Amino acid sequence: MTDSLRSTVTLANGVRMPWLGLGVFKITDFDECRNAVAAALDYGYRSIDTALGYRNEEAVGEALKSSGIPREEIFVTSKLSGGNGYERAYTEFENSLRKLGLDYLDLYLIHWPIPHEDKYVETFKALLEFMEAGKLRAVGVSNFLPEQLIRLHKEFGIYPMVNQVERHPHYQRGDLKKFCADRGIQLECYSPLMNGQLSGLPKTRTILQTIADKYGKNIYQVCLRWQIDTQVVCINKSVHPERIRENADIFDFRLDADDIAKIAAIDDGQHIFRDPYDDLGPVVHFTVEEV
Ligand SMILES: NC(=O)c1ccc[n+]([C@@H]2O[C@H](COP(=O)([O-])OP(=O)(O)OC[C@H]3O[C@@H](n4cnc5c(N)ncnc54)[C@H](OP(=O)(O)O)[C@@H]3O)[C@@H](O)[C@H]2O)c1
Repeated sequence: MTDSLRSTVTLANGVRMPWLGLGVFKITDFDECRNAVAAALDYGYRSIDTALGYRNEEAVGEALKSSGIPREEIFVTSKLSGGNGYERAYTEFENSLRKLGLDYLDLYLIHWPIPHEDKYVETFKALLEFMEAGKLRAVGVSNFLPEQLIRLHKEFGIYPMVNQVERHPHYQRGDLKKFCADRGIQLECYSPLMNGQLSGLPKTRTILQTIADKYGKNIYQVCLRWQIDTQVVCINKSVHPERIRENADIFDFRLDADDIAKIAAIDDGQHIFRDPYDDLGPVVHFTVEEV
C-alpha cells in the first residue's frame, strides 16, 4: 500500500520501512537540522536518514527525543564508510547510537563501498553481527554495484536488505533496479530532486509540469511520487517546513502508465554524485554473469 505517509514496504527480513522519509545531508547547523527533523515528524514523517559523515546525528537525536513519538514508530537510518573494516565498524556504530541517543538502529548502511580499500566485506560482517545482537533491525548498503552485492552474497549467503543509490528522472538505474528486485534487495533513492538542480533543466521541468498540472501538483511532488510508483523507497531533503510538508503531500494521486513513459524518456544517465563504477578499479571479484 502506498496511500499515506505511514505506508511501508516490507523488507526481505520482514522489517517494515516507510516509502517516504526525510534526509538531512548538508544540514550541518544544529538548530536547522533539529528543526527540519522536528517539522517532518510533526507532519507525520516516520523515516529519517542521516549518516555519521553528515555530522548532524546529535541534532537528529535531539529532534527524535523531543518529539515524544515512541521509538518503535520511527525508522532511523544511519551510515558508515565501507573503508572502516570490522573493528572500526563497531566503534562507528556505537558512536552513531550515542550521538543519536538510541539503543538500536532500524537500518545501517555502508555508505560507499570504497573498493580500493577492500574492506566493505568485513565491514558488512560487523553489520550482520549488530543485527544478530538485536541492535540493528536491517542491514543495507549504499552506492553498491551488482558486482559488490554478489560478493557479499557469496561471502555470507545473504543480500543486504536495502541498496540506497542516486536516482531521479535523469538517472533511472533500470538495470540496477531489476538486479535488486530479482534478489529481494529494496532499492532506495537519494537525491530524488536532483539535489536541487532541477531548476537548471528547463526541458525536464516542462515535461514534469505537464504531468503535475494533470494532478494539481508541483514538479517536485511528481518526482517523489514517481519513485514510489516505480517501487523505490524515497528520501528527500529540505530545511523549509512548508516544503517538507509539500513534499509529503503525494499520497492522494498516482502516476499512470503514460506519465511513467514520459518520465522514462527523460533518462539520459546524467548524475550528480560520482559514479560508483569510477571507483571499481581492479577490485572486481565477481561479475553478474557468474550468478
Ligand atoms: N547515500 C548517499 O551517498 C547519499 C548521497 C546524497 C544524499 N543522500 C540522502 O538523500 C537525501 C536526499 O537527497 P539530497 O539531499 O541530495 O536532495 P534532494 O531531495 O534531491 O534535493 C534537495 C534540494 O532540493 C531543494 N528542495 C526540496 N524540496 C523542494 C521543493 N518542494 N521545491 C523546491 N526545492 C526543493 C532543497 O532546498 P531547501 O533545503 O532549501 O528546501 C535542496 O536544495 C539526503 O538528505 C541524504 O539523506 C544519500
